Amino acid sequence: MLNADVARRRDEAISRGVGMTTQIYADRALNAEVWDVEGNRYIDFAAGIAVVNTGHRHPRVMAAVQAQLERFTHTCHQVMPYEPYIRLAERLNEKVPGDFAKKTIFVTTGAEACENAVKIARIATGRNAVIAFGGGFHGRTFMGMSLTGKVEPYKKGFGQMMPDVYHVPFPMALHGVTTEDAMAAVEKLFKADLDPARVAAVIFEPVQGEGGFYPAPTELIRAIRALCDRHGMVMIADEVQTGFARTGHLFAMQAHGLAADLVTMAKGLAGGLPLAAVTGRADLMDAANPGGLGGTYAGNPLGIAAAHAVLDVIEEEDLCARANELGSRLRQRLEAIRAQAPEIAEVRGPGFMVAAEFADPASGAPDAGFAARVRAEAQKRGLILLTCGVYGNVIRFLAPITIPDAHFAEAMDILEDSVAAARAA
Ligand SMILES: Cc1ncc(COP(=O)(O)O)c(C=O)c1O
Repeated sequence: MLNADVARRRDEAISRGVGMTTQIYADRALNAEVWDVEGNRYIDFAAGIAVVNTGHRHPRVMAAVQAQLERFTHTCHQVMPYEPYIRLAERLNEKVPGDFAKKTIFVTTGAEACENAVKIARIATGRNAVIAFGGGFHGRTFMGMSLTGKVEPYKKGFGQMMPDVYHVPFPMALHGVTTEDAMAAVEKLFKADLDPARVAAVIFEPVQGEGGFYPAPTELIRAIRALCDRHGMVMIADEVQTGFARTGHLFAMQAHGLAADLVTMAKGLAGGLPLAAVTGRADLMDAANPGGLGGTYAGNPLGIAAAHAVLDVIEEEDLCARANELGSRLRQRLEAIRAQAPEIAEVRGPGFMVAAEFADPASGAPDAGFAARVRAEAQKRGLILLTCGVYGNVIRFLAPITIPDAHFAEAMDILEDSVAAARAA
C-alpha cells in the first residue's frame, strides 16, 4: 500500500474540512516511533497532539485495556455503572489541585469537557456570560469554537457563535502583551459591555496549546483567581493539553500554587483512548440535575481502564521528572541551534511542553513559512513535528515523555539539520 494511493482515496471519501498535517498513513507504532503503510519509520514528536504522553502502546496501558476487553466494552455508565469509573473519579478528585471537596464527571472529548464545564458553571451560578482568551483553543463543538479565540479556520463560515462569550488578550511576552493588558481588557469589558454580575465563568489554558505554547504568567492566574473570587465567577482551567505530566507536573496549575474551581482534562488522560473529564468543587459539580450531564459513551470502560494505567505509569516511571529533564535538554539544544539560526525568535514552555517561535530576523515579523519549512524538512528526515500559534509560526515539540534517550538524541540531530535546511531553502 502506498501513502499516495490512500491519499487519493482520502480526497474522494473524506470531507476536506478535516484538515491533515501529513499524508503519512500510520500502520503501527511503539513508544515514540511510528511506521507508515509503506514501512517508513518516523520519530513521533506529535504524540497524537499531546495524547500518548506515556508512549504508543505502553505495555501497562495495553494490558489494562486488554483485561477490560475480556470483561465488557460498554454498558453505558448511566444504565449499568461500573466501579473503575468511580475509582478513577476518586483518584482525580485527590490529584487535581485544590484543598476542597471535589467531584468528577467523565465525557469523551476535550471539547465536551469544556462544554460541560460551562454548563456546570452556568447552572451553579445562574449566570450566562463567559470570558475566554484570544488565541485560546477549546474545541470544535458550538460552545468549544465560541470559546476558542481564533477565527480561521475554527469559526469562519460556521454562522453565529454562542452569545455571551467575550475574549480578552492573552499575555504573550514576545509580542508585548502583558498580564496588565489582559486584566485592563477585562475591566474595559466591564465598563463597556458586560456586567460582571452576569459572568458565570472565566476559562483559560495554563499554557496556551494551539495558540502557540504561551505559558500563563503566575500573575495572570492570580489575577483571574482574584477576579473570580471578587465577582462570584467560576474559574475554569482547561488542562486538556497541559495535563498528565506534560509540563513537569501532573497538572500545569501545580506550578502556580493556585487552584481553579473546575478543571477540564482529556488527551493524555487515557493514553490514546477517547476519555475526558471535568473535576471540580463538589458544590458546583452537584448543581446539575440528574440526567443533565453525561453521554452514551461518557466514561467508556476501555478509556477508564487505560486512564488507571496511565496514572500508574506516570507515578511509577516518574514521568513528571522525566518531562523536566527532557524539556531542559530540548530547550538547551534549541538555544544552541538558535545561536546559528536567528530566525528562532524565542524558545519557551514548561517541562516537556516546549516550542520554538520563528520570526524574520530583520523585521521581527512572524514567519509561518519558516516554521512550515522546518516541519517539512524534518518530515523528510523521519521526524514528525507540529506547528501551532495564532500566527502559525511556532513549532511545538510533543514527544511521548517515555521516549528513549537514543530516539530523543536522533530527533535532536534531525531537528538541527532541518533548521539548517530551512535556512538554505
Ligand atoms: C486546551 C484544549 N482544550 C480543548 C481541546 C479540544 O479537545 P478535543 O479535540 O478532544 O475535542 C483541545 C484540543 O486540542 C485543547 O488543546
